[in-house]
Amino acid sequence: MNKAEQQIAETIETFEQVAGGYDNPSLRFFPFCGDRIGMHLQLKRGQKVLDVATGTGAALITAAQMVGPQGRVQAIDLAENMLDRAEHNLRMNGMDNADFHVMDAGRLDFKSAYFDAVICSFGLFFLPDMLGALKEWHRVLKPGGRLIFTSFTANAFQPQGKLFRDDVEAAGVSIEDPGWQRLNNEEACRNILQEAGFDNIQLLQEQLGYHLNDEKGWWDIVVNSGLRLIYNKLPAEQRDAFQQRHLEKIAELKTDKGIWLDVEVLFSSGQRP
Ligand SMILES: C[S@@+](CC[C@H](N)C(=O)[O-])C[C@H]1O[C@@H](n2cnc3c(N)ncnc32)[C@H](O)[C@@H]1O
Repeated sequence: MNKAEQQIAETIETFEQVAGGYDNPSLRFFPFCGDRIGMHLQLKRGQKVLDVATGTGAALITAAQMVGPQGRVQAIDLAENMLDRAEHNLRMNGMDNADFHVMDAGRLDFKSAYFDAVICSFGLFFLPDMLGALKEWHRVLKPGGRLIFTSFTANAFQPQGKLFRDDVEAAGVSIEDPGWQRLNNEEACRNILQEAGFDNIQLLQEQLGYHLNDEKGWWDIVVNSGLRLIYNKLPAEQRDAFQQRHLEKIAELKTDKGIWLDVEVLFSSGQRP
């Protein structure tokens, strides 16, 4: 296995592991963002949509609702447990206008110029070859079709994110720069869209944050999101002590409203000429 394959395998193993807790209310920024994607793209009845890295379906549900029974969403992910939950969530919402595929976001098994829209919420930055993937997404879009992807800005999850990182490093575990920081600013997002051949590029930043009740809400996020990739690197025998030490610091952030969770999100969209 080369480094990129190893990275993908590690990411997928982590998402297989967190699928059961991913729909936790502390992580509600995912469905909030899925709704915003549908609105920004103004999906229409009858359209064909590809939802890349669908997870448990946060963006898929809104897309399926907006395209209606005459439209269809193809949902892809490499973590089967996430896809199972997405399928369950779609049915719980009374819909069945989507298909679910175990498929790598960087190697699509769809014909060219097929989709009216491609959406990807918080998935692109997990891919070792982001540009290669964007070119694939461009290929499957019809001319005039639109792509939108989301990423977190550098402010998102701060100051908790930095405290988490410092505490992990203090426990003797070194952390490579997390992949999601590669798309944390407008310039990086615009450049990669341009390089992949998109035009009519639009960038928008929105604050989707809220107050968590207490430090346990932050812990829900650590163990049920991409942060689990880092947490898993701690030796098992150190984890309980780490959790206690870390949450004591997080608890100090609490005000009478709870603990503010910054979720500043970048929506980057472009059109296939
Ligand atoms: C943070 S979750 C986002 C899920 C969903 N879009 C949402 O907004 O809630 C990232 C998802 O990307 C998926 N993923 C990561 N690498 C992938 C790849 N190479 N191909 C397909 N899916 C991938 C993971 O399995 C996970 O479900």
